[in-house]
Amino acid sequence: MLNPDLITNAHALLASERANYMKLHPKSAELSVKANQHFLYGVPMHWMNDWGTPVPLFISHAEGAHFTCADGIDYTDFCLGDTGAMFGHSSAPVAKAIAAQASRGYTAMLPSTLAPDVGETLSDFFGLDYWQLATTATDANRFVLRWARAVTGRSKLLVFDGCYHGTIDDTEIDVVNGKTVNRASLLGQVYDLGLHTVAVPFNDLAAVEHELAKGDVAVLLTEPALTNCGMVLPHAGFIESLRALTTKYGTLLTLDETHTISTARGGWAKANSVTPDFLVVGKPIAGGLPAAAYGFSEAMAVRMKAAKDNAPAGHSGIGTTLSGNMMTLAAINATLRDTATEAAYLHMLALAAKLETQLNAAIRAYNLPWNISRMGARLELQFCTNPPSNAAEARAAQNDTIESAIHLYLLNRGVLLTPFHNMMLICPATTEADIAKLVRIFNEFLKDLLKGLRNE
Ligand SMILES: Cc1ncc(COP(=O)(O)O)c(C=O)c1O
Repeated sequence: MLNPDLITNAHALLASERANYMKLHPKSAELSVKANQHFLYGVPMHWMNDWGTPVPLFISHAEGAHFTCADGIDYTDFCLGDTGAMFGHSSAPVAKAIAAQASRGYTAMLPSTLAPDVGETLSDFFGLDYWQLATTATDANRFVLRWARAVTGRSKLLVFDGCYHGTIDDTEIDVVNGKTVNRASLLGQVYDLGLHTVAVPFNDLAAVEHELAKGDVAVLLTEPALTNCGMVLPHAGFIESLRALTTKYGTLLTLDETHTISTARGGWAKANSVTPDFLVVGKPIAGGLPAAAYGFSEAMAVRMKAAKDNAPAGHSGIGTTLSGNMMTLAAINATLRDTATEAAYLHMLALAAKLETQLNAAIRAYNLPWNISRMGARLELQFCTNPPSNAAEARAAQNDTIESAIHLYLLNRGVLLTPFHNMMLICPATTEADIAKLVRIFNEFLKDLLKGLRNE
């Protein structure tokens, strides 16, 4: 339970930081007025308006771990496009590959001569033999779900409460009174998603086995850690047990590593020697250009081919025109081979560990019942003493006022966190000075937040 005086202070801080933001960002305010003339909510995607700033922050330049806003202010970026720019904004090898490809064609609905190389790169990087591309991780998950239902002949999807796998309808569910129902915020969904999707609590093997034993679950889709409701790390052996249980009951296991690619080079599954039936990756694999991929074993490839070959000719429901375009192929190769290197990961993981230690020290120094969870280069601050075990615990620890106050306080001092929770990512270009800046301002924030309170 958070101290109510803390919330009162957070409200006051938030109000003063909102005023401060408007003083610091006159150009962004001006651009917002213009953009409002032709964009719904004044932004290219409506959710870009949900950051909690009084008007959106418009960006003029991004490079490495930094970007500059329309008002010429430099920011250290710990959001990094919520993983899309996890290997740094405009890294030199990717910029070079894109520039080289730019004069040789963008898209043709045919594979470029780079295709065999890209297949090898994906296989080397993630450790699975076979691959297909998609344009977004949402699409990759959607396609995997379709393949899984086709090859198993089963209809149901098992996910975890609090999951997010993109705007794939089947996963936009919540658990209310033990029942899987459409997420209340979902617009325009007329189908009952609970008919074919079941959600159970993360880290609850008994609940998983109870559902799998019914024999109708085509696929269990999960991230190795829940990363979209705060962060919920798996208990020791949890994902390994999911592997064993899904095999036992003939259900396919899909690991969505769109975010947990932060764990190590090759992702969480490779680092932990767990082989899923499908592995989904997206966001940063082409340096931030729209690209995603899903990998699978040779045995799965045989089952997929059988499903496709036995179906009538025509639309499979899998694939989009721009997926696997020539530009993307060039960017994937340059990202995975030349940017997301072992050395880059060593740097990211070492700095992230250092940041974790220093943030924890600040939390302890101010005697706050908060904690930091970390998955490789990804850190999450949560307002509970112990890391949560499932989404219900993670939700209970959330506090929108404190969260918004932290975000705006840091943003007004040149540090960007990921919106909608308190996530920080380290990229290959992040420096010791960048994390020192974050830690210093976080300490100042805590001091201001606790002003006048007992444990100041
Ligand atoms: C775990 C996970 N999978 C898939 C997606 C979808 O990615 P995209 O929005 O690029 O389609 C997201 C987006 O945040 C995600 O967090």
